[in-house]
Amino acid sequence: MRKHRKRTYRKRRPLLTAVFTAAMILSAMYIHTYAKEHYATGPMIALTFDDGPGPYTEELLDCLEENRAQATFFMLGQNVGAYPETVKRMKKLKCEIGNHSWNHPDLTTLSLEDALSQLRETDDALIRACGSASTVVRAPYGSYSSALIEAAGKPFIMWSTDSLDWKLRDAEADYQQIMGDSTLSDGSIILMHDIHKESVECAKRLIPDLIAKGYRLVTVSELAQAKNVTLQAASYTDFWERSLNP
Ligand code: NI
Repeated sequence: MRKHRKRTYRKRRPLLTAVFTAAMILSAMYIHTYAKEHYATGPMIALTFDDGPGPYTEELLDCLEENRAQATFFMLGQNVGAYPETVKRMKKLKCEIGNHSWNHPDLTTLSLEDALSQLRETDDALIRACGSASTVVRAPYGSYSSALIEAAGKPFIMWSTDSLDWKLRDAEADYQQIMGDSTLSDGSIILMHDIHKESVECAKRLIPDLIAKGYRLVTVSELAQAKNVTLQAASYTDFWERSLNP
């Protein structure tokens, strides 16, 4: 009886070893992926896209999803109603929902009340589309007053790398403009516009290439959090080490 049991155990041992090894490999892979997504401390960049959503935004979201990357979208309230599914998908892909006013006026030329209603109506449209208001604001033309920031009560996000894509309208030139920026580094915020076909074409090359260079592409809020910055009703241009600890 004892001998018999022993033999059964011996026969099963290769199987047990295989199961054990597989479990170890799978858990190591899981821990690696989890750590990469939640505790990465390597260099990070925030890609930001303004003036959308538009007809090319879905193509951009495909690329972000394929590359497991995130971006921040500063949207115009007047465009949100036409693309509710796209806005829902941004949220599902853990991209950040940003407010870029209703119809792109220079907010400093409006009364404080009118400027605030530009932001409020856009948030209402975002809530109708995806159930969430914006977490961050980008003022059109980067034009704002400190009174507006205070009244809006949200972080206003500028940029450190301007792709000039709205002017260049050429995927190759956009790409060179961004990659050729000597300040592009850990903590940078890149400005692009997903309403232009050429910009989305550029992003489709830029996203995998930045990842290949070792950058993690995160939202503005994730970037701030990773740099131990608690976003407040203030203006932010970058999250570089030299800006945070001058
Ligand atoms: Ni804009």
